[in-house]
Amino acid sequence: MKIKTIGILTSGGDAPGMNAAIRATARTALHNGLYVKGIMGGYNGLMNGKIVDLAYRDVSGTLQRGGTILHSARCEAFKEEQGVEAAAQICEKSGIDALIVIGGDGSYRGALALSQKGVPCIGIPGTIDNDIASTEYTIGFDTALNTVVQNVDKLRDTSESHNRCSVVEVMGRRRGDIALYAAIACGAEYVFIPERQYTLERDVYPVILKSFTGGKTHCILIVTEGVCMNNFGHNMTTEAFAGAIEEATGIETRATVIGHVQRGGAPTMWDRVVASSMGNYAVNLLLEGKSNRVVAMCRGEIVDYDITQALMMEKRDNSGLIQLFTQVT
Ligand code: ADP
Ligand code: F6P
Repeated sequence: MKIKTIGILTSGGDAPGMNAAIRATARTALHNGLYVKGIMGGYNGLMNGKIVDLAYRDVSGTLQRGGTILHSARCEAFKEEQGVEAAAQICEKSGIDALIVIGGDGSYRGALALSQKGVPCIGIPGTIDNDIASTEYTIGFDTALNTVVQNVDKLRDTSESHNRCSVVEVMGRRRGDIALYAAIACGAEYVFIPERQYTLERDVYPVILKSFTGGKTHCILIVTEGVCMNNFGHNMTTEAFAGAIEEATGIETRATVIGHVQRGGAPTMWDRVVASSMGNYAVNLLLEGKSNRVVAMCRGEIVDYDITQALMMEKRDNSGLIQLFTQVT
C-alpha cells in the first residue's frame, strides 16, 4: 500500500529531544509530499481520536524545547486487545496509513501490537533511561545526564564545605546508565545500580568508613531510584539510606533526590542532532516501503531492526563502564 498520511505519537516518559524528533519526522514527511497528523497524548489519545493536522509551521520553534508538544501518557487500556483494536480503527477512519512511535520499549510493544492489526509502525527510541536493548543511545539521555552532572557538581561544593557524605538519587528504573555515566563524569566515590546487588554491611558502611579513615573528608554516592528499597528493605528510601549511613558511620550524611528535573529542559546539541537524524531515518524507511522496524544507533551509525527482533535483544552489557568507574575512582 502506498503511504499518503503518517501519524506521529510520543509515549511513556517524556524525554528532551522528543520535539526535535517530531519536527524532523514531520518535515521529512512533508518534504516528500506526505500528510502528517499528530496524535495528542500517546496511545490514550490515539484510542480516543485526539488527532491534529501537522503542517510545516506547526513544528516551528520546537527544536530547542524540552517535553513533547504532542504530550505523552502511560495507557494501561492499550495493553488490552480491545484498546489496540480501537486504535487500529481510529487509524483507518482518520486516514493514518502508518504510525511513528517515539518512546521506550513499552511503547515498542504497543507499536508491535498495532502493526499486528495492520497499521505499519516505526519506533524511535526516546527515553532518558538509555535502557532499550536494541540501541546504544536513546533520545534524551545526554540532556538528562548533563542535568545530573550540573546538580552533582553543585552538591559537591556543599558536601566538601561541610565534610559530609551526599547521597544523590537519579532516575533509571531498570538500568543504571544515568548513575554510571554521572558517577564517571562527576568523580563520585560510589555508585549503586539496578544491575548489581548490594548489602549495607558489605558494600556500604565499611567502604565509606575505610575511605574516611584513609583521609577522605567528604564523598558523593550516586544511587539509581529503587536500588535502596530493592536491596536494603522496603522502607529504605534514599532519605532513610542517608540516615542509616550517618547512624552506622557517624559521618554527617544528606540525601538529594534529583527527580523529574532530569526529564525537562532544552535538549543538548547531541540530542537535537540524534533526534533529527532518527526522525528523518524513520520516514525514509516508510518511503522505502519498510515497516514494523525500530530505529537504533549501533557503533555511532543509525540503523534499523525488525520490532520483534529488537524486543528480543539481550540487554547491553555495562560491565566495561563499571570497570572504568572502579579504576578511575
Ligand atoms: P516506555 O515506552 O518508556 O518503556 P512504558 O513501559 O510505560 O514506557 O510504555 C508506554 C506505553 O506503551 C504503556 O503505557 C502502554 O500504553 C504501551 N504498552 C506497553 N507495553 C505494552 C504491551 N505489551 N502491549 C501494548 N501496549 C503496551
Ligand atoms: O522512563 C523514564 C522515567 O523517568 C524513569 O527513569 C522513571 O522510573 C520513570 O520514568 C518515572 O515515571 P513517572 O514520570 O511516571 O513518575
